[in-house]
Amino acid sequence: MRETAEKNMPLTTTKELLKNAQEGRYAVGAFNVENMEMVQAVIAAAEEMNAPVIMQTTPGTLKYADTDLFFANAQAMAKKAKIPVAMHLDHGSSFDLAMKALRSGYTSIMIDGSHENFEGNIEVSKKVVEACRPNGVPVEAELGKVGGKEDDLDGGDENPYTDPEDAKVFVERTGIDSLAVAIGTAHGFYKGEPKVDVERLSEIKKVVDIPLVLHGTSGVPDEVVMECVRRGICKVNYATDLRVAFTKGVRRVFDENPDTIDPKKYSGAGRDEVKSYVKQKIRMLGSEGKARPALA
Ligand code: 13P
Repeated sequence: MRETAEKNMPLTTTKELLKNAQEGRYAVGAFNVENMEMVQAVIAAAEEMNAPVIMQTTPGTLKYADTDLFFANAQAMAKKAKIPVAMHLDHGSSFDLAMKALRSGYTSIMIDGSHENFEGNIEVSKKVVEACRPNGVPVEAELGKVGGKEDDLDGGDENPYTDPEDAKVFVERTGIDSLAVAIGTAHGFYKGEPKVDVERLSEIKKVVDIPLVLHGTSGVPDEVVMECVRRGICKVNYATDLRVAFTKGVRRVFDENPDTIDPKKYSGAGRDEVKSYVKQKIRMLGSEGKARPALA
């Protein structure tokens, strides 16, 4: 059965955004949004920086507040923005969820089959590509395993790194548009400084020509992220740090005035913190000033 996406023109796909980033040797920030204020913050930051931007939601976020609701929220904001905005499903945990996001109008889909064995991962990733391609929606998949915890997803402590030769075969057989690599980063908080295997990244880059994606970037020092971008990373995911920023803003309001009861006051403070964090990351990733008109 052919899946059909709704017309979603105000949003762009990640295909063109990441192709431009690959050519221009910078990365597009992909920021996890979990409420209306985070959506506003990410778009406002990107507009001020004249940067293309990706917003993404995890299955946990979609469970908390319906896929259609999140999509409508993002679309309404993107419509007014003067920069290209893509809406991406982060860590799509099943074919069915990927299809749900596609039907809602998401303009980029990740299928995360990294919990499967190699063949199983290929099978589910390929199936999602076959459903998304006729709709012009690009697909990201993961090979190896980015460990750590993100919402309901527990990547565990064991982090099998991406093998370059396997990556080449995986990309050829699945037809995916971008590949998330496991090179030592993990979701959530790091106990010590993460050891990122940048040499492995270069080895992958030599044999894989599609854009590469870095997950688990909160807590990774900026110099390391920039080195990854120099070596071929085109999309950089941040989630935990946005939660930290939002909560910092909310907490400050309650610390200063414990009697606050207006959600606009504390959520607005959270929004300001997220915006300033996102601006800083956009600058570091080199995507400032790289907005091109949203694709028709
Ligand atoms: P962090 O929570 O470590 O930033 O990871 C985000 C991520 O990779 C989303 O897929």
